[in-house]
Order: sequence, then structure tokens, then C-alpha cells
Amino acid sequence: METVRLSQRGSVAIATIDNPPVNALSASLRAALVDALSRAAADPAVEAIVIAAAGRAFIAGADISEFGRPPVEPTLPDVLAIIEGSAKPVVAAIQGVALGGGLELALACHGRVAAPGAKLGLPEIKLGIIPGAGGTQRLPRVIGAAKAFPMMLGGEPISAEKAAAFGLADRIVEGDLVAAAIALAQELAAKGAPVKTAERADMLTQSDRETFEVLARDAAARSGDMPNALALIEAVRGVFTLPFGEGLAAERALFLKLVADDRSKALRYAFFAEREAAKVPGIDEGKAARQIKQAAVIGAGTMGGGIAMCFANAGIPVTVIETTQEQLDKGYARIRDTYGFSVKRGSLTEAARDQRMALITPKLGLEAAAEADIVIEAAFEEMSVKQEIFGALDGIAKQGAILASNTSYLDLATIAMATKRPQDVIGTHFFSPANVMKLLEIVRPAGVADDAVATAISLGRRLGKVPVVVGNCFGFVGNRMLEQRTRAAERLLIAGALPHEVDAALTGFGFKMGPFAMSDLAGNDIGWRTRKSRGRTAAVADAICERGWFGQKTGRGYYLYPDGARAGQRDPEVEALIAQVSKEQGVERRAMKPDEILARLLDPMVNEGAKILAEGIAARPGDIDTIWINGYNWPAWRGGPMHWADSVGLDVIVERLEGLAAESGDATLEPAPLLRKLTAERKGFADLKARVA
Ligand code: CAA
Repeated sequence: METVRLSQRGSVAIATIDNPPVNALSASLRAALVDALSRAAADPAVEAIVIAAAGRAFIAGADISEFGRPPVEPTLPDVLAIIEGSAKPVVAAIQGVALGGGLELALACHGRVAAPGAKLGLPEIKLGIIPGAGGTQRLPRVIGAAKAFPMMLGGEPISAEKAAAFGLADRIVEGDLVAAAIALAQELAAKGAPVKTAERADMLTQSDRETFEVLARDAAARSGDMPNALALIEAVRGVFTLPFGEGLAAERALFLKLVADDRSKALRYAFFAEREAAKVPGIDEGKAARQIKQAAVIGAGTMGGGIAMCFANAGIPVTVIETTQEQLDKGYARIRDTYGFSVKRGSLTEAARDQRMALITPKLGLEAAAEADIVIEAAFEEMSVKQEIFGALDGIAKQGAILASNTSYLDLATIAMATKRPQDVIGTHFFSPANVMKLLEIVRPAGVADDAVATAISLGRRLGKVPVVVGNCFGFVGNRMLEQRTRAAERLLIAGALPHEVDAALTGFGFKMGPFAMSDLAGNDIGWRTRKSRGRTAAVADAICERGWFGQKTGRGYYLYPDGARAGQRDPEVEALIAQVSKEQGVERRAMKPDEILARLLDPMVNEGAKILAEGIAARPGDIDTIWINGYNWPAWRGGPMHWADSVGLDVIVERLEGLAAESGDATLEPAPLLRKLTAERKGFADLKARVA
């Protein structure tokens, strides 16, 4: 198949890129583009050239899967140099997205027209790199560094309308985009030799430089673990200090160094893992998915309200159902306040808020779910409550409606047994706050129909979530592994670490919060209740709860929160209590370094992940990593727990787990058979191409 088609309208040649799904600039596309450009350049009947694209994207950027492999010529900078150096003006016709290398290509053109709704951006920062094909040099020359730098630092694309206001798009065109690009190309040709972006200096004023330096100082202070923010500053500064060619070379050198960095490798891995996670063997999302036009959410608590907002944000009418008027009013008010906060912050217009609120209907009684195509239960986390609700729904919901539970632990098959339609019962596990967190764990009990699973996946996408399908077991994937970390954290306290040391080890690793700060925030009583329901104990955690120290809401938990403080302070009483427990258990406390704490926290999670894979609860290691990055705040640049385990070496993890199992006498910490097998074969999780179970 031709990736670039060359056609002609009058005196203008049109090179149409067609490289599905998103016109990524793969080696073959680059070669075909150079070929098309040289034919157009050589044709005396052609006075100008338009680069257009077929499909839903203009160009989504460089082909990310080529990164880390030896470069293949022509490289993207080579192609862009040919475009910019063309004696005949070249105009980009941008529809859909122009991202990364795609926008860099458009910047090398002499004119740009964009369709309304198009998005233009340089998202490389999110892949741990910086633009590598002139973006840092050309974008500031077109719109000024003061606007270009924040665009590259945040990585979020801007709308065509904003691009036009910035001068990045010359025109926004309703209707025939290519015809408008041809018209602009002809106008430019009539003016004589085209203006090269590389030669522009009009935007690079003294005040632009000063504003950039202020922004750069701020960004440098917040760059944290990501070296690419600093590299970006250095590259952009080059527009003021270096001739174009040298600035370009400096950018390329920084780009190549960052591409080889483990952090960028992990981010690229996470990008592809996320896309693969929604693909379920045997399930075709496009086929047989049921229509979702109306939703109902049972429970107007924090989770229920957040889930209802997800529907409203996606334009789907949703009924929120409660048992008492008081709870309904409270829940509805919380939703209104949350939207109100967004309006105050400027991230939502009043009109959009009103539109969303109008899609949410508060109602009393389960009968209000009768018309819904999907009902999501977000009631109290107790099996008898769930069964009662699902039993009642069986008599109320219309035939073919999906009956979903937001349970975070409980057995979906047991919940389904309360109905006569197990084929419609599924788990949709949202994460708190549901309107913000990206992850949607879709739990697939044995009896659920394939088209219900397909519907849940496509609904997840409509809601802007990252859907991952998982099997049915206690805690599914995320919480089942989290439980291992929670148990490890308690063991660490008894062995000699203190809450702030454990938390610091995890925040040092890149998490936003450690397990104890997190537990204090969520409420220590939640875990206590779960432990009691399962006949489990945890000496320190139980002792803290017995004293009523439930966390921030009671002013103290693992830490003290005087006068409603959000950040906890060390609590000598808690530390004494921990020492007392160690003593009672005959443990001689010893100090531990952050690396040891980290290993003791994370290795048991990896072990559980291996068991989850062997049982087929997760289809691929990448699914587990996608869950941890999008639902549990695992730092994306560390690629998720399974990717991290590979980077440490599975042999190292096996040895450490053996030590932990021996020390604790806990046989569940023995390395999982899959972990031992991979180690014996000198393999990593990345070698598991197909489903294990
Ligand atoms: N390279 C390779 N493959 C890509 C790709 C890219 N740049 N962008 C998307 N794809 C692939 C995806 O992996 C997916 O493949 P499968 O169907 O096989 O899973 C397919 O295209 C569709 O992608 P999505 O599922 O993400 O589709 P979407 O419609 O939800 O989103 C998108 C489309 C907005 C383009 C999104 O894919 C995206 O953001 N892509 C990445 C864009 C990006 O980061 N570009 C910069 C690249 S780096 C660069 O260009 C460096 C440079 O300076 C030279």
C-alpha cells in the first residue's frame, strides 16, 4: 500500500499521507514523503505543494516503536530540512491531531491551515524526551518562547482556535481543508521565495526571552526526577543564544541522550502497555457492544457521585439513586460543589457546569433504574447489601441492561447469583476520586456475556478512562497487590522502621504518598473493617484503630494532624506503641535504609503479580503495570511493578523474597512458581508475550 499519494490540482501538488492508524512517521513513510517531494520539486508544472493526510489524524508524531532502534535514513530532521528548504512553498493541511513530529513537520512547512477541532501539540515530555526534529527551535520562532515553552513543558495539545490566535495556524477552515491549503499555497507562491521558519527572528524579542527565563526558573525548580524538563530548558534557550543550525544540533543531541534513558524507555513501554490492555483475546470491542444511552448509579456517596459525574462529563444522562432524601440531597450538593470548584479554578465554564448538572437526575428508590442501559451499584461494601440490591434490580432493570458493581474486593459471581441474569452482571471498579482517576478495572466473572464485556470496555473509553479487563478474585488485580504492600508496611513497622521512614522510601521512589499517609487520608477504619470481616489481624494497625485514631478525620492516625493540618506530624505515642508491639513479639528492632524498605514493600507485590498472571486474573504483565500507573499513582517513569521487577532482575527479587519468607515464617512470601520459572530460564516478565494461564 502506498503511504504517500501524489496528486495535482492545477499548479499545486498534493502529497496525501496514508499510514493507518494515525499516520505515525515510520521509516517507510519518511522515504515515501521524500520521494513525493522530490517528484513535485522536479515537476515544472508544480509551483507549490500541500501536505495533507487521510484518516483521523494529520500525523501523530514519530513512530514511537522505532525509538531505541538504530536510526533509518531519511531521518525526520532530514525530511524536515527538505521541506523547509523547498523553493516551492509547502503548506500543511492539518485535521485531527498534529502531535510531536507531526507538528514539527507542519512547523517546517511555510504555511499551515487547520480544520476546526484539530489539536496541535508537542507531547514528547510525557514520553521522557523532548522534541527531536526541530520543535524546540521552530515553535518559539513561530509563536515566541513564552508561549512555546509551556506548550512543550506541559505536553498538552492546543485547539486549532488557540493555534490560530498564537499564529501557529495561518487559517482555520470550515469545509474543504485541502482546497484552502491549495489557496494558501498559491498565494505564497505568488509572493516569491517562501519564508523559512528557521530564518524568522521576529518573535524572539527581549521581553519574550525574559518571560521565558522566568518560566524556565520555575520549571527547573519543579523538574523533580525528570531530566527532560531541564533538557527542554536548555534546548529552548538555544533559540536566543545559538544560530538555528547549532540549536537544532544541540536539540538532537539532547533528544538522543534522553531516548536512551531508562525513564523514557519505561514511559514508552507504559504507552504501549496501556493501549494493549484494552484488547482482550476473544472480545471484539467494535462488535456486539450494547447501546448505552442512559445510566443509573446506585448510591450518592463520594464514589457514586464521582461515577455519575463521569457519565455527565461524557454527555450521558444519568440517574443517581439513594434510599433517603437526606442522603440524596447531600450527594447532589457534593456533585454541585465539585463542579463549582472547577468553575472557580477556571477549568470549567458555568455553561458547561449547567449542562452537566442538567444530565444528572437525583431520584429515590431503585425503580428509578428501570430505564437505564447500565446500572452501576456503588453502595456499602458488604455482600449482603450488594445481593439485596442486585436481587431487587433483577425485577426492575430492563432486559439487556448491564448490571455493574463498583465493588473493590467482593466476589462478582456471588453478587450475580442474586439475579437470574448472570450474563449481564459485571464489575466496573472506579478509583477515588472517580471523576479524576483514569483507571477502570473491568471485572469479568465466569458467567458474564462477551458483549457485556465489550460494552464495558467501549463505555470506559467514552468516559475517558483507561479500561483494563481483569478476572474475578478477592481484590481483583490492584487491591489484591495493594494488600501485599499494606501487610509489608505493617511488618516493616514491627521490624524496626517508623511510619515516616516507610512513607519517605515510597515518596523517594516517586509515589505521591506513602502507605501510612494514604491510610490516614482514606481512614484507617476502612482496612480495620475489612480485616475483621476476613478474620485477619494486624497488631499495630489494629491497636491504632482501637484507640479511635482513624486518621485525618479524627485528627490523628499514624501521624498527628493538629488543627486540621493536612500534612501529618510524627506522633511519639504511635512510635512508642510500635516499639511496644515489636517487644511483645520478641523482635529486636533495627534501623533500615530506604532501599531495603522499598524492596520489602515492593517485592511481595511483584510476587502477587506473578501469581495473578499464573491464574489468568491479568492477561499480561503490562495490564498490571497499566493498573498501577493509572489507579495507584505508581510513577509512570518507573513503568509499573512488573517492569520495575525486570529492571531490578527477577533473580534478585527471588532471593530477597526467600529471605523475607524465612525471616517472617510466612509461606505466602515464598517466590511464586512463575517467578522461579522465569528466573531459571533467565527471562523477565517482558518475555511473557502471551497469556500465561
Ligand atoms: N507511534 C507509533 N504508534 C502510535 C503512535 C506513535 N506516535 N501514536 C499512536 N500509535 C498507535 C497506538 O499504539 C495504537 O496502536 P494499536 O491500535 O496497535 O494499539 C494506535 O496507534 C491508535 O492509538 P490510540 O489507541 O492511542 O488511539 P486514539 O485515537 O485514542 O489516540 C493519539 C490517538 C491521540 C494519536 C494517541 O495515540 C497519541 O497520543 N499518540 C502519541 C502521540 C505522541 O506522543 N507523539 C509524539 C511522538 S514522539 C515524537 O514525535 C518525537 C519527535 O520529536 C521526533
